[in-house]
Amino acid sequence: VITDRRRLGLELALAHDKEVGLVPTMGALHRGHGALIGRARADCNRVIVSLFVNPTQFDRKEDYERYARNLEADAAYCDALGADILWAPPVEDMYPRPGLIHVEPGTMADHLCGKFRPGHFRGVLTVVAKLLHIVQPSRAYFGRKDGQQLALIRRMVADLDFPIEIVGVDTVREDDGLALSSRNERLTAEGRRAAPVLYRALCLVRDGLAGDVEQALAAGRAVLAAEPGVRTEYLEVVDAENLQPVASVSAPVMIATAAWVDGTRLIDNVVVEPRP
Ligand code: PAF
Repeated sequence: VITDRRRLGLELALAHDKEVGLVPTMGALHRGHGALIGRARADCNRVIVSLFVNPTQFDRKEDYERYARNLEADAAYCDALGADILWAPPVEDMYPRPGLIHVEPGTMADHLCGKFRPGHFRGVLTVVAKLLHIVQPSRAYFGRKDGQQLALIRRMVADLDFPIEIVGVDTVREDDGLALSSRNERLTAEGRRAAPVLYRALCLVRDGLAGDVEQALAAGRAVLAAEPGVRTEYLEVVDAENLQPVASVSAPVMIATAAWVDGTRLIDNVVVEPRP
C-alpha cells in the first residue's frame, strides 16, 4: 500500500519500461473489482489499483460519509489478485487547494444518473483525469455496470487526447442477476430479495426492443413498480455512445436503470446491438 505521491512516483519511474494498467476504485472491493484487476493483470506487466473515495462526486454528504472503507481488507484482496501497488492517497493530497478548473460532462450527463445527481459526473471526470495524469498508465480499466461513467470517460479521453486505452469490463452478477456493487452490502434481507428486479426489468425491455421502444419501457417500468420496496428513479433506452434517448434501435443502445431498494440506490444496464 502506498499513500505518499512521491513514493508512487519512484515506483512508477522504476516501471518506466513496463505496460502499466490502472484500476481506479473507491475501495470496498468485491468480485466486480476483482474482474477489473484480473483483466489488468492479464494485459499489463505492472498493475496499480487506486483507492480514493472521491468527495467531489457525492451529491449527498451522508452517502460520502457512509461509504464503506476497509483499507486492510482491500489491500489483502489486491495482494491475492496479484496487483503490484494499491495506491490510497489522502484527500489533501488529491485536493491540496479548492479546484477551480474541472472536466464538464456536457450533454452526455443530461439523462440517466446525470439528471438525478447534479455535479456527480463533473466530480468523476475531474478525479479520473487527475488519476490518469498522476499514474500515466497505458490502459485504465472500468466496469460496464457504471455504463454512463464508462461512456463519459471514453469520450473525455477521446476529446482531450489522453494517450491511454480505456478498457470496459463486463458486469459481474450474482446467480439471480443482481449486479455486484459495494452498495449491495447495505441492503436488508428484504431489499436483497427484491434487488434482482432491476436486471429482470432490463432483460424484459431488451427482449421487447424488437418492437416499440416505449412499449418495451412501459413493460419494464411496470415490473419495477410491482416490486414492493422498490422506487424507480429512471428506466431509459439511450444511444450507447452519446447517451441521448432513442425511439428505435439503429445503433448500439444502452438500457439503463436506477432504483431505490429499501433506501439504497442501485444502478444497472445492458447494452443491445442493432439487429443485422
Ligand atoms: O467507479 C468508481 O469507483 C469511481 O467513480 C471512480 C471511477 C473510481 C472515480 O472516483
